[in-house]
Amino acid sequence: MNKTSAVQTIGILTSGGDAPGMNAALRAVARTAWARGIDVKGIYRGYSGLLNDEIFDMEKEFTCDIISRGGTALFTARCEEFKQLEYQEKAAEILRSHNIDGLVVIGGDGSFRGAQKLSAQGINTVALPGTIDLDIACTEYTIGFDTAVNTAMQAIDKIRDSSTSHERCSIIEVMGRNAGYIALWCGIASGAEDILIPERFDGNRPKLENELIESILEKKALGKKHHLIINAEGVGHSYGMAKRIEQATGVETRASILGHMQRGGSPCPYDRVLSTRLGAAAGKMILDGEFGYLVGMKNNHIAKIPLADVAGKLKMIQPDDEMVQEAKLMGISFGD
Ligand code: ADP
Ligand code: F6P
Repeated sequence: MNKTSAVQTIGILTSGGDAPGMNAALRAVARTAWARGIDVKGIYRGYSGLLNDEIFDMEKEFTCDIISRGGTALFTARCEEFKQLEYQEKAAEILRSHNIDGLVVIGGDGSFRGAQKLSAQGINTVALPGTIDLDIACTEYTIGFDTAVNTAMQAIDKIRDSSTSHERCSIIEVMGRNAGYIALWCGIASGAEDILIPERFDGNRPKLENELIESILEKKALGKKHHLIINAEGVGHSYGMAKRIEQATGVETRASILGHMQRGGSPCPYDRVLSTRLGAAAGKMILDGEFGYLVGMKNNHIAKIPLADVAGKLKMIQPDDEMVQEAKLMGISFGD
């Protein structure tokens, strides 16, 4: 097949926290390249693997049976040393030595900063938003968020059964780093009484706990059999909070931190489809010679956003967020 592309060999890596749908995305990038006769190299373990020259010729078999699998077949890693210029120069040299003239980076905000540094070294890069946290600026969608919310919601439903049987209060801590999107979505989907998100938390823990204590006693007086609090990891301290709430209310209170189970599991259809669309778009862009962009979603359409507009600018839930306002209308409290 004639190669019809500005680049001749592309590389793909996944970096930062894994997210369900990364496999679908990398598969779509690779297949788009292969359809145009372009060679694909896989880079294992993100920037760490790149610096260790863990680069291989990706064959079509590599992408077989991965669309339904969580995690990333390329493995992922965090690599502190890559923040230093000398390692970025070394990485660019390694990419050149493999004749990689276009690189697709799938990861979160930190990974985009790395991608930008590689661009500065003359490497043609395109990035895809791969994080369960949904905290990437300029895109409505990030790979893995929907699956993570589904996974967490199913776990919360189970905890709720036990909570109701024991007439307890349950504090369930979900991931999201400094953003509250997973907590907000899970809280609404699970019918929680309170949703704690870092964007609405002023750092005053005694005040927050007093609000919760009031809310628990009020709902108990109305005959509520359980009390569900969804707490974002950016607020944290779930175990201590549970102890103090139990002491103050007399209501048995348990905390559960869901942890890394939220990152695993087979991606839901939405994540498979959106990741595939983004991957195909990223593949096309890099083959057409359009570099230095994040490929994201805006108004339900594929959008290309200059990496310079994205890297280092995290998205947070705004004070006037519609979902928060609607939740408040029906009595869900945010502890603020
Ligand atoms: P995520 O991509 O999910 O946000 P991290 O913030 O851990 O995850 O970033 C992933 C990797 O990206 C880091 O381990 C590091 O190798 C690279 N990275 C992060 N910040 C920078 C930076 N300022 N310059 C260069 N590389 C960076
Ligand atoms: O960015 C994804 C994420 O799962 C965050 O929600 C969480 O804060 C972090 O990664 C956990 O990172 P680690 O895998 O290093 O524990």
